[in-house]
Amino acid sequence: MELTLILTTNFLEEPSDFMIFLGRFHPLVVHLPIGFLIMAVFAQFATSQPKFHPLKPFLKYFWGLGAFSAALAVLFGYLLSLSGDYDEDILFWHKWSGVAVLACSIACYFISKKQQENSTIPKWALILLTTGTIIYTGHLGGNLTHGQTYILEYAPNPLRSMAGLPSKIEPRQKVTVLDSADVYLDLISPMMNRKCTSCHNRGKKKGDLLLTTYANLMKGGENGEVVIAGDVEASELFRRITLPGEHDDFMPSEGKRPLSDQEVAIIEWWISSGAPPEGFVPEFDTEKKITATVTNYLGLDKNNFINIDVPPADESVIDSLSDKGFIINRLMKDNYFLEANFSLSERALSTPDLDLLLQIKEQLIWLDLSNSGIQEEHLEKIGQLENLIKLDLSGNEISDSGITNLSKLTNLESLNLYNTQVSDGLLALVTRLGKLKTLFLWKTKVSDSLAVHLQKENKHLKVMHVREPIIEVN
Ligand code: HEC
Repeated sequence: MELTLILTTNFLEEPSDFMIFLGRFHPLVVHLPIGFLIMAVFAQFATSQPKFHPLKPFLKYFWGLGAFSAALAVLFGYLLSLSGDYDEDILFWHKWSGVAVLACSIACYFISKKQQENSTIPKWALILLTTGTIIYTGHLGGNLTHGQTYILEYAPNPLRSMAGLPSKIEPRQKVTVLDSADVYLDLISPMMNRKCTSCHNRGKKKGDLLLTTYANLMKGGENGEVVIAGDVEASELFRRITLPGEHDDFMPSEGKRPLSDQEVAIIEWWISSGAPPEGFVPEFDTEKKITATVTNYLGLDKNNFINIDVPPADESVIDSLSDKGFIINRLMKDNYFLEANFSLSERALSTPDLDLLLQIKEQLIWLDLSNSGIQEEHLEKIGQLENLIKLDLSGNEISDSGITNLSKLTNLESLNLYNTQVSDGLLALVTRLGKLKTLFLWKTKVSDSLAVHLQKENKHLKVMHVREPIIEVN
């Protein structure tokens, strides 16, 4: 006796995977009693007409099947509830009204077995009660899986107000200029909706954390606050999204599509700017730390990087660069974007040269470092020149290990790696460079099949490998 008691308590506290596995059949199985019982109710009504009298002997089977499948649904539902992921209040009522459906249907079964000819009031009352309970239970079940407002989410506003819900939120206008991009509404909230709220919503409040509104986000989850305004290091949410993907705590969990590097950078900036609930990006980004990233993230710079206003570059830096052998040119009349070319210099590029270049990184959009004696270790700094649109690294001793450093150059449209040692490492790099249109790969270690693969995976990209168009070999 004691042993069974211990077993049951353990069983309740720590449901095994297998029980939860069974539990997950609940949403499937639950349609059986609904079907059978509704059919039984209809049949019961029908048989009050002489035409349907021949149905009478079957009534008890309908109710019997209904009761049996309701028992299965209750059992599986109970196992599913052990996973503990559901809103406790709704779960409580759903569970007990489910049990009530079972009890009612068993009662109906016994009554119909007796084959009473006369329709008695208690019998009809019971049948109505059963019908009502089925509807109520089903409704609560829907609330549990889809959230309480699911059914009215797209309802007309008058209907929503009758149910005590606020009017539908007008969809945000698409942002067309950075000045009207709201930090929370246009950046953080859409990110959460796309990647997090499938598990952190009212019905399915994983980790007791709701990510559907600003207030809830700031309230935190079962372990307290997840965003500490101004303190990225202390913010659990930030820790979770920056862990290695295979870590148990990594979010989003269960292999769901993770946040992109840009999204993580924007969240980091938002938290360190004090996690404001509203306000436009430029108000908080006075140092223009995130401007380029947000502009790119919102697609404001599509083919039109000149939309970004950059200040003129420091003349003294340009002078020093010219002294060191760089040719620097301004590219357009009405902005301060620059091109830098080191390919004609007699000497090899050195780290101090790159430090100087980094001082004009906001303005620098074309860079020619072909045949400049670049070493693998230089690539880390080149990878920080985030506004680059065109980069020529041909004729340098660089290979796969170094080029991963270029993955932050998300504005790149043209990359020349002609006559370098790169090969397979390109696969990972190219997928990150979403705007890349032209890639020069002749005289590298890239095989024909890799070039074909790259071309196939990236439709918008033109892979310049050999002069003839690459023909697919099956
Ligand atoms: C597939 C479901 C799923 C998705 C999607 C998901 N989470 Fe979670 N999250 C969970 C579960 C389950 C827990 C509770 C277990 C745990 O703490 O790891 C949790 C817990 C958390 C916690 C800890 C709460 C606390 O107080 O301990 C944070 C923070 C969090 N998630 C953030 C996020 C963010 C941000 C996203 C979107 C990038 C996200 N989650 C997407 C399932 C998910």
